[in-house]
Amino acid sequence: MTLPAAQQPHWRDLPEFDLIEAELAGALPLVAPSEIRAAKSALAVAAAGGARVLQIGDCAESFADANRATTGRKLRTLADLSGRLAARTGQEVARFGRMAGQYAKPRSSPFETVLGRRLPSFRGELVNGPAPEAADRRHDPARMLRAYDAAAAVLRAVRAHRSRAGQGPETGPWVAHEALVLDYENALLRADPHTGELFLASTHFPWIGERTRGLGQAHVRLLGAVTGPVGCKVGPAATPETVVRLCGLLDRHREPGRLTLIVRMGKDAMRTALPPIVSAVHSAGHPVVWVSDPMHGNTVAAKTGQKTRHLSHIIQEATAFRRVLEEAGQHAAGLHLEVAATDVTECVGGPVTDETALRARYETLCDPRLSPEQALEVIDSVF
Ligand code: PEP
Ligand code: CO
Repeated sequence: MTLPAAQQPHWRDLPEFDLIEAELAGALPLVAPSEIRAAKSALAVAAAGGARVLQIGDCAESFADANRATTGRKLRTLADLSGRLAARTGQEVARFGRMAGQYAKPRSSPFETVLGRRLPSFRGELVNGPAPEAADRRHDPARMLRAYDAAAAVLRAVRAHRSRAGQGPETGPWVAHEALVLDYENALLRADPHTGELFLASTHFPWIGERTRGLGQAHVRLLGAVTGPVGCKVGPAATPETVVRLCGLLDRHREPGRLTLIVRMGKDAMRTALPPIVSAVHSAGHPVVWVSDPMHGNTVAAKTGQKTRHLSHIIQEATAFRRVLEEAGQHAAGLHLEVAATDVTECVGGPVTDETALRARYETLCDPRLSPEQALEVIDSVF
């Protein structure tokens, strides 16, 4: 049965679609079941209160970044920020990059107006191109193959970096992305040759976004069916009943490390909306990992026209998150942040003193990211 699915590309009628799907379905897995199990074990420790979690990276990756030098810079940023979180909390940190697959974006509107022209919205390089031209904005299924190749290149760089650092797959870092485009994710479903269990061969940690977590929808069914750790965003409109039902579908066996709830309420909703959810999930017996995404509920339009976020709001939401969890006797495991590996000026705060300073290095393909320095300030303020 085909379930409804929001935010999908329009490309199934194109003549090349079936061949592309067949090619992806025959492709080698990008990640191994053993790595997925290792990531799940690390998250199980965090679920029990014994470790922290940090998930960071671009809002949308670009194919042009799928090389060793850029990936190395991103991994060093991840290592630096994780090191700071470990130092401040005295706990190990399970590290995840929003990388090697973060190529598809949900959009609030299917169209946007750029320089006076109405165009289909940019949906990530897996679907279409960011240039403000109709030809580039066409949904092109061949981009799924480019996304697969880019992810493979990033993963090669991750593994090379890991072995240079004397680390194995059991310590991470691992890769994560929003499992959004079902034609891509479904084609990368594989069975573990040893156990027969289904896994998503596209990433170590897929998550479901706020716009696609509908209970009867295809994304929830897909991630409910795979083994390995999965995440789900939880926004301000989620009720305790909805979240408990999501837990039932995504964490059927009540396994520590299986489900990470990534809370993104906005700084004001957090203190009232989160406590009943935490209490309901606890009563239902789901040993979830609680992570705060203090970015996506705090996006505003700057006077200069760009989308931005204020460091003070991000800190306010993540601090409120930690307080709510701790007041409930639960572990506030960590943070999920959009962070660049360079000194971008996309969020206001710290060195970006006001909105006029956003202009200098505003480079994101989608949402505004923190610079590494701003991200350190978040970690230091919250933990
Ligand atoms: C994202 O993580 O980039 C995103 C789109 O988040 P959300 O689904 O929480 O809006
Ligand atoms: Co984003």
